[in-house]
Amino acid sequence: MASVESQIAELRRQLDEHSYRYHVLDDPIIPDAEYDRLYKELVTLEKDHPELVTPDSPTQRVGESPLSEFTEVTHEIPMLSLDNAFSDEEMGAFDKRVRDRLEFAEIHYTAEVKLDGLAISLLYERGKLVRAATRGDGTTGEDVTSNIRTIKSIPLALRSTGYPDRLEVRGEVFMTKSGFEELNIRQEEQGEKLFANPRNAAAGSLRQLDPMITARRPLQFLAHGIGIVEGATLPASHFEVLQTLKTWGLPVSADTERVAGIEECIGFYRRIASRRSQLPHEIDGVVFKVDDLKQQAALGFVTRAPRWAIACKFPPEEAVTEVLDIEVQVGRTGALTPVARLKPVRVGGVTVTNATLHNADEVQRKDVRAGDTAVVRRAGDVIPEVVRVIPGKRPETTEPFSMPARCPVCGSPAERVEGEAAVRCTGGLHCRAQAIQSIIHFASRKALDIEGLGEKLVEQLFNTGLVRNIADLYHLEHDKVAALERMGDKSAENLLRAIETGKNTRFDKFLYALGIREVGETTARNLALHFQLDELKSATQEDLCGVRDIGPVVAENIVRFFRDERNLSIINEVLTAGVRWEDAKEQQVTHLQGKTFVITGTLASLSRNEAKERLVSRGAKVSGSVSGRTDYLIAGENPGSKLDKARSLDIEILDEAALMQILEKL
Ligand code: IVH
Repeated sequence: MASVESQIAELRRQLDEHSYRYHVLDDPIIPDAEYDRLYKELVTLEKDHPELVTPDSPTQRVGESPLSEFTEVTHEIPMLSLDNAFSDEEMGAFDKRVRDRLEFAEIHYTAEVKLDGLAISLLYERGKLVRAATRGDGTTGEDVTSNIRTIKSIPLALRSTGYPDRLEVRGEVFMTKSGFEELNIRQEEQGEKLFANPRNAAAGSLRQLDPMITARRPLQFLAHGIGIVEGATLPASHFEVLQTLKTWGLPVSADTERVAGIEECIGFYRRIASRRSQLPHEIDGVVFKVDDLKQQAALGFVTRAPRWAIACKFPPEEAVTEVLDIEVQVGRTGALTPVARLKPVRVGGVTVTNATLHNADEVQRKDVRAGDTAVVRRAGDVIPEVVRVIPGKRPETTEPFSMPARCPVCGSPAERVEGEAAVRCTGGLHCRAQAIQSIIHFASRKALDIEGLGEKLVEQLFNTGLVRNIADLYHLEHDKVAALERMGDKSAENLLRAIETGKNTRFDKFLYALGIREVGETTARNLALHFQLDELKSATQEDLCGVRDIGPVVAENIVRFFRDERNLSIINEVLTAGVRWEDAKEQQVTHLQGKTFVITGTLASLSRNEAKERLVSRGAKVSGSVSGRTDYLIAGENPGSKLDKARSLDIEILDEAALMQILEKL
């Protein structure tokens, strides 16, 4: 039997190792429950042998008693802030200033995300965390050591060897979007105040005098730089310093790259901007830092910011504006959606005049009224939404919103289906709104892709009586279309040609185009792999439930759709007009069928989205992260940490040329 000392040491070693794999490598090898079991084992041993407890034991993250106040900390090296750039031109001007000063043709930068959190300084002496401080005004901050110790991604002791005697690590403390939402749900349940956003929640959590409270808050840390270094030499490039910090157990964002010149900086900015809404945490821009530390030293500082770094800000995703009115829109499936008409406001980089309120429950929960001042949000490509109203700004005479009992377009009764959030118009395709929306959907890009046939034109064709359903599109006559307002010969010709081109389609696209309730792109694709059209028409609910991802509700929608005589006759009419596809089964069952791909880095000849679409259309799956179930990793330029992970799991790695070969062969 090993001595208690060595048992304790071994448990700590294992816990530290797993924590490092989880927080720094993003590659855990044991489930959380196993970690908890080891942790409890250590707690029990330490309880029986209190003399063996050390401050850097993983059980010692929460100290004993609350503080009465925070003490001040003077930063030996001031914590600076960053200059901002708001456009490509301003980024270009920064790069030019750097090149001119250094008399260098091309500069290498470390490109990082700008985390929307709080800057923190961590001081390690002989490898142990001895002090953590907020940035404060850059010269003087507050000592928040006991709170910072509760953050599990911050090592209490550095790993490995070769670290300086004194090392100050700087980085950001923040909350993930999901952590923030869960915290707010808990706060609401306990009748506590809600936080406005993840940044405020992180700040509020760090300012707690009682570390027990901080310990319950889902705080995270990522390192982005260093301050004091004494007693060892660090690498001569910022990027390599960050990699070295990782080996000592400090987490660094996986979205950190070394780039050359302004073009690559702009490329990085665009890539991150397009993924912004999918990232687990909020960012408000990207940061570029001159990579060579000698060059950094040569550039120096101006007042509060270094000349060697720049923050390129993204447009804010939230803004405050006035709700002019609340209207009700009718969608393709009859769902009534309350929509706020807004006083125009810039948010997420565009001017927004409408924001969705989702459904009646949401309006009630948020109590949004015409006349209110509200926070609106637009993140990525998602539809702008009203986040909340500002109660103090409500005028005296406002009325609570209520859903109409009848469809505002066709007057049919509106009904709420048991267990659904949506209230629906019962008018079906007799409802003008539903009929128009179904035609718009049929023509949309992911469906039959009829170029130029958008909302305005469909409404015009419908209102003039030329097109009442999708089949009517195929009976349109040139002269009648040309005679429409704002049309003319050329436009009519273009439209008819686009309708003709759209006739060559794929079976899954055609199925999607029909607009069967809850049959999205993926379901349509799965259906197309299993059935031909005739088989589908007579498929039972049971047959359909055998298809991947199809449950009884979707199956019933499909059965009901194909039992409807009117739908069948419209489909017949469309097929007679010449809409056609190749046999989907033969076209799609290939050796990529069922294989899982992950893509990392930049591809030169196509975007990641295109690559994904082309793989998926050949029956493959494309996943966002590498795991034991991954079959191939496609690695482009500047691959991220996924490449290391794939290597460690012995996953076959393909380069862009190999990918193109596969795509061309099939
Ligand atoms: S570097 C001298 N890198 O942004 C360089 N800061 O506007 C100082 N921030 O106080 C900071 N992500 O709180 C740096 N990757 C990143 C960052 C970052 C977020 C924050 C930090 C700083 C503020 C400056």
